[in-house]
Amino acid sequence: MADYDGITEREEGKKKIPLGMLILFWGLVVSGLLYLYLFTPLFSGWTQVGRYEKKMQSQSDAEAPAVQKKTVTAAVVSNKERAKRGKEIYDAMCAMCHGENLEGGAGSALTGPTFQYGDSLQDHIRVITKGTPKGMPGFESSLGPEKVRNVSLYIHSQH
Ligand code: HEC
Repeated sequence: MADYDGITEREEGKKKIPLGMLILFWGLVVSGLLYLYLFTPLFSGWTQVGRYEKKMQSQSDAEAPAVQKKTVTAAVVSNKERAKRGKEIYDAMCAMCHGENLEGGAGSALTGPTFQYGDSLQDHIRVITKGTPKGMPGFESSLGPEKVRNVSLYIHSQH
């Protein structure tokens, strides 16, 4: 205690800082510096954008194979299934002219290998949709694009 003109003051200067406070102080200084170092783009290269992109990338990497597999199998199954449905349409609406087994009759044979109007799936779709001037009726309005595609897939699967 010091006594100045009758006023007594505690001598704060000589008091020791409690150990816990020292540890807390230096701990905060160190973690603050560490934080500055780690999250300053200039020092560590860290950026919000980089982190976002990395996250998105790893997400799409994880999903990509599953998504791809799903669509590929779906496409295979559905084309087979479509051709099967196409055969039912063929039997009902085309066989009377093109024959039970596509061997031809009033209409041309559809077994290939050569086709007057082309042998690709797109060619079949076009001819079946629009018809031809020489006796092949167009099926655009009676079947619609889905069924035309199915029956085209059936014919295409037979040559
Ligand atoms: C009324 C009889 C008739 C019916 C019904 C008919 N077709 Fe035809 N089709 C023809 C004739 C005739 C041709 C030949 C046309 C030509 O030479 O221009 C032909 C041609 C085609 C061709 C083109 C062949 C080639 O060589 O390029 C395809 C494909 C075809 N038909 C598919 C079908 C399908 C599928 C159906 C049923 C949805 C169908 N046709 C129904 C008479 C018919």
